[in-house]
Order: sequence, then C-alpha cells, then structure tokens
Amino acid sequence: MENQLMDAVLATETRPSDTEEWADEQVIKSLLAVHRILESELPRGRLAIYEAGGGSTSYIPPTLLARGDVTVVDVDERQIERCSYATTKRVADIQTLRLPPSTFDLVVCFNVIEHLTDVDGALRGFAEALRPNGLVFIAAPTPRSLAGVVTRFSPHWFHIWVYRHLFRYSDAGKPGYPPFPTVFHPLVRIENLKRFMSTLGFDVIYANQYESERYPALRRRRPGFARLLDLIAVVINGMMLNSVDVRHGDYHIVFRKR
Ligand SMILES: C[S@@+](CC[C@H](N)C(=O)[O-])C[C@H]1O[C@@H](n2cnc3c(N)ncnc32)[C@H](O)[C@@H]1O
Repeated sequence: MENQLMDAVLATETRPSDTEEWADEQVIKSLLAVHRILESELPRGRLAIYEAGGGSTSYIPPTLLARGDVTVVDVDERQIERCSYATTKRVADIQTLRLPPSTFDLVVCFNVIEHLTDVDGALRGFAEALRPNGLVFIAAPTPRSLAGVVTRFSPHWFHIWVYRHLFRYSDAGKPGYPPFPTVFHPLVRIENLKRFMSTLGFDVIYANQYESERYPALRRRRPGFARLLDLIAVVINGMMLNSVDVRHGDYHIVFRKR
C-alpha cells in the first residue's frame, strides 16, 4: 500500500504525464517538495543517514539513498528483515538508543512518532546524533484531524478492521505489518513539535499539513463511503468556521540543526 505512494512520487518526478491519477494529490506534492529541499540542502558526496523506525520502506529520493550510508533502526525485527535499502540494520528502540554524537547528515522518522510513548527521548537522540546543519525529516499524522480523533478514541482491533476492509490491505494486523498501535504523545501535535525542536536548537525549514492519501484512495475504491466522509468533514469544517480542514490528517516537517 505505502510503496505505491513512493512509486507514484518517483514516477511524477521522472514522467509527470504518466501519473495524472496521482499528480494532484497533496501528499505527492508535499513529498516532492521535501525531496527538492533534501537534495538542495544536504552536502555533496557521501551522506550518513539514520532512518529511525525505518521499517521496510524509505521515502527519501533514491539519488540520496545511492550516495548514503543508511543506518536503519527498528524495534521490530520482521520489519528490519524486509528492509532492502539499509547499509547497517539494528533492532533497537529509538527512544533510548544513542548513536555516536554528531555523526549523521540526515535523520528520517516517517510515520513513527505517533507510535512512541517517549517522543522527547527519541527527538533528543536524533538531535545528538546529527551534525551541525544536519536535517531531520519527520512525517506523522495529526492527532486533531478527523482520522486522528477516530484513531485516538477507537480500539486497535478497529484500526486493523479498517485497514483490512476499507483499505483492502490483506496483511493488516499480521505480526510485523501495519497498523501499529498508536499512542499520540502530545509532542506529535505539530505546534508542540516545533516548540520542542526549537528548544533542542532546530529551525523549521519546511512544514506542510495536507489531506491524507487515504481520502483520494477511498474516493477511487469506495466512492460512496468517501462521499459520506467528505460530507462529514465539510460539516465539521463549517462548525469550526472553516479555520481548518479536518481531512488534513498528515504532515511533513523538515528541521535544520543550528
Ligand atoms: C507505520 S511503520 C513506518 C515504517 C516506515 N518508516 C515507513 O514509513 O514505511 C512504524 C514503524 O515504527 C517502528 N517502531 C515503533 N516503535 C518503535 C521504537 N520504539 N523504536 C524503533 N522503531 C519503532 C515499527 O516497528 C514500524 O516499523
């Protein structure tokens, strides 16, 4: 399911006209913007990259992976086994793991912090491991979006049911496969994350909240249900005076170490 997203991003980068179905999706545009930033901001030559909770999929440009020594850390050894892009693999907890200080040019933590109970521990580890001017790229869902609220107030078995039956992901819930239990520590809220990272000595160089890719996927696969969700979202947005769009359930953020 998630590899499809990266395939679409790469196809859009190389052959824009082949991917009309995807090209308007906000997640693709946002990931392309992150790719451009990483390519322009990171130093030339070999790169030291730390993928925290890397699992089996990377969302950074293949050109960077190709010149990177990529350390992938994940607490789940089945995820690590399926990872094909790592130079070094480690089964460890990113909340307590401390890698050699000032070693990495880039830390990537993609769809992981929502699963952590000690987000500050993980962020402190990233800060320590990065060189000055190093970048942290974090992707996460927004706890206060429609999907975030439903996720927070429903049991894990329901998340598995949604992945299996609405998203048609047949491996959902099997050991080592998503959905992983979600915690939603307060630091996952983007405002809190920005404040905390600032205290650790980081500036924001890119931040974007966008419509989760689940909505376009549902519009293609389950149009009736998607129309109902859109209607619910429009009503809630109206009640909030359209100050937010509750479908904007995910964000990408890139920080630079001062
Ligand atoms: C939703 S998956 C995302 C995987 C990958 N980053 C991606 O985007 O495909 C979340 C990953 O975080 C890992 N994870 C959860 N808690 C962790 C922890 N404390 N330390 C290391 N990895 C963790 C899970 O095992 C899983 O591989």
